[in-house]
Amino acid sequence: MASGHSSSGRIPQPFIDGLIARADIVEVIGNRVTLKKAGKEYKAVCPFHDEKTPSFTVSPTKGFYHCFGCGAHGTAIGFLMNYEQLGFVEAVEALAEMLGLEVPTSGHDRHSGHTDALYDVLREAGQVYRDALRQNSGAIEYLQQRGIDGATAGRFAMGFAPDAWDTILRALGTNEARISLLRDAGLVIRNEQGHQYDRFRDRIMFPIRDPRGRVIGFGGRVLGAGEPKYLNSPETPVFHKGQALYGLYEARQTRGRAAEIIVVEGYLDVASLAQHGIEPAVATLGTATTAEHIRRLTRLTDRVIFCFDGDRAGRAAAWRALETTLPHAGGTVEIKFLLPPEGQDPDSLVRERGAEAFRALLATATPLSEFLLEELQRKVDLASADGRARLTALVRPLLAQLPVGVYRELLLERLAELVGLTPARLDVLLDTSRQNVPATRRPEPAAKRSPLIRKAITLILHHPAAALELGEVADLEYVNLPGVELLRRLLEVVREHPQINAAGLEERFRDDPEGRFLSRFAGRPPLDDEAAAPQVLRDNVARLVERGLKDRLHALTRRGDALSEAQRAEMAEIGARLRTAQSAQRAN
Ligand code: UTP
Ligand code: MN
Repeated sequence: MASGHSSSGRIPQPFIDGLIARADIVEVIGNRVTLKKAGKEYKAVCPFHDEKTPSFTVSPTKGFYHCFGCGAHGTAIGFLMNYEQLGFVEAVEALAEMLGLEVPTSGHDRHSGHTDALYDVLREAGQVYRDALRQNSGAIEYLQQRGIDGATAGRFAMGFAPDAWDTILRALGTNEARISLLRDAGLVIRNEQGHQYDRFRDRIMFPIRDPRGRVIGFGGRVLGAGEPKYLNSPETPVFHKGQALYGLYEARQTRGRAAEIIVVEGYLDVASLAQHGIEPAVATLGTATTAEHIRRLTRLTDRVIFCFDGDRAGRAAAWRALETTLPHAGGTVEIKFLLPPEGQDPDSLVRERGAEAFRALLATATPLSEFLLEELQRKVDLASADGRARLTALVRPLLAQLPVGVYRELLLERLAELVGLTPARLDVLLDTSRQNVPATRRPEPAAKRSPLIRKAITLILHHPAAALELGEVADLEYVNLPGVELLRRLLEVVREHPQINAAGLEERFRDDPEGRFLSRFAGRPPLDDEAAAPQVLRDNVARLVERGLKDRLHALTRRGDALSEAQRAEMAEIGARLRTAQSAQRAN
C-alpha cells in the first residue's frame, strides 16, 4: 500500500496528540477488562489471546498496553480499534466522546452538528423501514423465500420501503429543515421541477452500519425482477462506499480478533452466511475492493478470504481485489481466494450444501500467489511466444507493486518456471526492480536494523525525556544505517513536544512507513533503572555517530590516491570530528 494518507489525515495531529495525552488508558481498558495493579503498571488476562496467567500489561505513564504472550500492543486508540473493532477515525471519536471532546476536522466536509443530525435521521429512517416490514406480508414472504429467518432479519435490522413516493417524507420530513436533512442523507430526492420524493420505494431495505452501529446508508433490493436490482444510498457526508463494509458491525458482536474475515459481494451473502454461523463475512457495496477496505480488514484480522460470485463479474472482482491487495502480499496478513462453482454465490452455496461443506471449501481457498499464477495462466496462452510476451506485460505492473523481498523473489521464480526462463532473465525482461523501490518503499524489517539504532529507538520510546536531555546531536547525518531517519525524526518530535509519551509517539507515526513498526520496540522496557536512561542514550547515540564517521572515513581511505582535493579536506575534517566525538565519550 502506498504510504501516507489514510483516514487519520482528516483529523488534525495536535488533536490526536492532545487526546493521547489526556486519555487515561487504564480507564479505557479497565472499563472493558479486569485490571490488577502491579507496581507502576496494571496486569490482566490478555483479551486478545487465550491464556490463564496474565501477560497483558497496561502502562499509564507510557500510555500503551502490551501483551508479552501474543505481542498485542497499542495505545488507547489502538485498543479501541482492536477490542471494539473500530476504524481509526471511529476509535478517535469514541475516545473523544469519553473525554467530552469534539473531534475537529480539517476538511470542509463535516460540520459536527449536521453530521449528528444525519446519523439521527438515518437511524429514524431505519426504524420506519423496520416497522413497515412488519406490516407487509409480501416483503416478509420474499425474505422467507430467500431463506432469511426472523432472527437474521432482526440482527441485520432489515426493513421494507413501501411502494409509495412519500413514506419517509411523511414520517420524518416534518419541516423544511428536516426535508433538507433527508436529502443530505440520501433518503429523499428533489427533481428538476422541484418535486421531492423518497429514493427507496418497494424495496427490501438493508441498513449499512458503521463499526459503532450508526446507520450510515442503505441498500434496497427489488422484491422480484426489476432494475436496478439493488439501489444504494449515494455518497453523503457520512457514507463513503469506498470505505464502508456491510456486516462489519454485525460481526463484531462476537468479541476479540477474528481469525479470518470473508469478503463477499452481496448483502444477502453476508446475511445468509451469518445465519449459517459462518462469520464474520463482510460485503463491499457494489464497488471494487479499495485500498481503504484492505487497510481496514488487515487491521482486524490475520486472514482475509475473498469469496465472490462464481461468474465472470465475480472473477473480475477477485482479480481487482488481488491487484489492490498485492502490496500486502507476503506480509503478516494471509490473503486467499475462493471462487464458488459457476453460477453460484456464497449465499446459494451455503444454502445448497450447508455450513460444514462451506467451511470445508473455505479451508481449500487459494493463497494469493497461487491465485495470481492460476489467473495469469487462464488469461494467456503460454505455449505461444505471443502469450509469453502478453504475460510479461500483464505481470510487470503487478510485480511493480510487490515490495522487494523474499516473497517477490519466490513469485518471480514461479513465474520464470511458468514461462521457461531463468528468474534473472525474467527480472531483466520485466525490469521492475528499479521502479519498485520508491513506489512501495517498504520499511526495513525491525530485525534488520542495526542493534545500535534499535537500542536508541527503544530508549527514546520508553524514555522520551532522555531524548530531551540529549539536545541537538552533532554529526548524525554521517550515520548511514537503516532506521536512522526514524531515529532522527523521533528526536525531532520529542524536542517539539517535550511532554510526549510512548503512546503519543506511536500515534504520530501510525501511518508512517517506517514508524508504524514502532510498536515492535515497545515490548520490554530497555532499562531497569529509569534514571540511567539519559546517560545510556547519550552513549548509544555517541557510538552511532562514531560509527558513522568511521564508515565515511573508511570509504574515503579506500579510494587511496584517487581522492580529490575536496575529499582530502573532508577526510581531515572527519578525522577531527571523530577525535572530538571520542574524547567527548571518554569524558562522559
Ligand atoms: P448480485 O447481483 O450478485 O446480487 O450483486 P446478490 O447479492 O447475489 O443478490 P441476490 O442474491 O440476487 O438478491 C452483488 C452486490 O452488488 C451490488 C449490491 O451490493 C449487491 O449486494 N449491486 C448489485 C448493486 O449495488 N446494484 C445492483 O443493481 C446490483
Ligand atoms: Mn450474488
